[in-house]
Amino acid sequence: MSLIRAAITSLGKFLPERVVTNKDLEKIMDTSDEWIVQRTGIRQRHFLDPGLGNSYMASRAATDCLTRAGVSPSEIDTIIVGTISADNPFPSTACIIQEMIGADNAWGFDLTAGCSGFLFALITGAQFIESGRYRKVLVVGSDMNSMYLNPEDRSTYVIFGDGAGAVLLEPSADPELGIIDFMSQIDGAGGQYLTVKAGGSKRPATFETVQNKEHFVQQDGRTVFKFAVKNMADVSVAIMKRNNIGSDDLDLFVPHQANLRIIEACAKRMKISPDIVIVNIDKYANTTCGTLPLALCDAEEQGRLKKGDRVIAAAFGAGFTWGSVYFRWAMDRDR
Ligand code: UT7
Repeated sequence: MSLIRAAITSLGKFLPERVVTNKDLEKIMDTSDEWIVQRTGIRQRHFLDPGLGNSYMASRAATDCLTRAGVSPSEIDTIIVGTISADNPFPSTACIIQEMIGADNAWGFDLTAGCSGFLFALITGAQFIESGRYRKVLVVGSDMNSMYLNPEDRSTYVIFGDGAGAVLLEPSADPELGIIDFMSQIDGAGGQYLTVKAGGSKRPATFETVQNKEHFVQQDGRTVFKFAVKNMADVSVAIMKRNNIGSDDLDLFVPHQANLRIIEACAKRMKISPDIVIVNIDKYANTTCGTLPLALCDAEEQGRLKKGDRVIAAAFGAGFTWGSVYFRWAMDRDR
């Protein structure tokens, strides 16, 4: 039986129009552009207008991805959406956007894994292609994090943004290219350090949960920082080792964008050059499930991804969850 590899054959993105700069935040809370830039590398973020919902961004990123590929929505077999901010507890974002984009032959589902949601959705989607069962899987990473932000908590408010990205997975025309390997892990002991306490089945919304501000994100930033650096770097080194890739063989490292200092520390721990690391946190902040597809999309638009390139993408998020994917890039630049 010949090997089928899944390859990314198109990318798309969507960012809400409203840009909020660090200077804008200075007007509403006790913070400064200087602190935010120095401690996080973030200069601005996009916020979605209330009332539109995550599906608005997810559907636009999906349509952008399909338009760039020249693929009709009816051709899509499966939609997987990595997200932590669905419009409603149910139906899923996949169902909502299936209708919005007109993917009338697709089935699909949402996948929740904190900031690792897109990476886990990508490796899940790849399995459907590799098994030979499906030929076109749309993987979306989309989050409206502004819904979780407490204006009274400056340490979390300044670091998140809203945004979405999407990729199309198809069988690779060249079996040497595409998604070669992945490693993924979870550790529930880390759950306490990054969470939204209410709004689920254990603490449904009540007057009290709203009054106590339990629907906002709560984070032990320093602990999350340490685990993010160690786990993203170590899983990426492990995947490099397993695939015999030395630091000099790697063409691009695409890390989850949570903090520029996390990205830099991760690259240092991996002993790779900062020149091959994609950074766009300055423009978008942490868009949770949006970071990796947005970073891949930006890298492709900037001509930083060439066919055959060895690329590693890594994520870390609430759970804790983390993982790494190794690709040989399969897209032609002059499509
Ligand atoms: O996607 C995965 C999830 N998230 C992450 O990966 C985030 C990981 N953590 C981080 O990125 C960082 O821990 C933060 C950016 C959240 C915080 O940076 P830090 O360097 O760890 O700061 P800190 O929490 O240790 O706080 C240092 C000081 C404190 O003041 P005092 O107690 O030293 O007087 C904070 O009150 O900075 C203060 N501070 C701020 N000052 C101005 C915290 N947030 C702000 C702010 N503006 N926005």
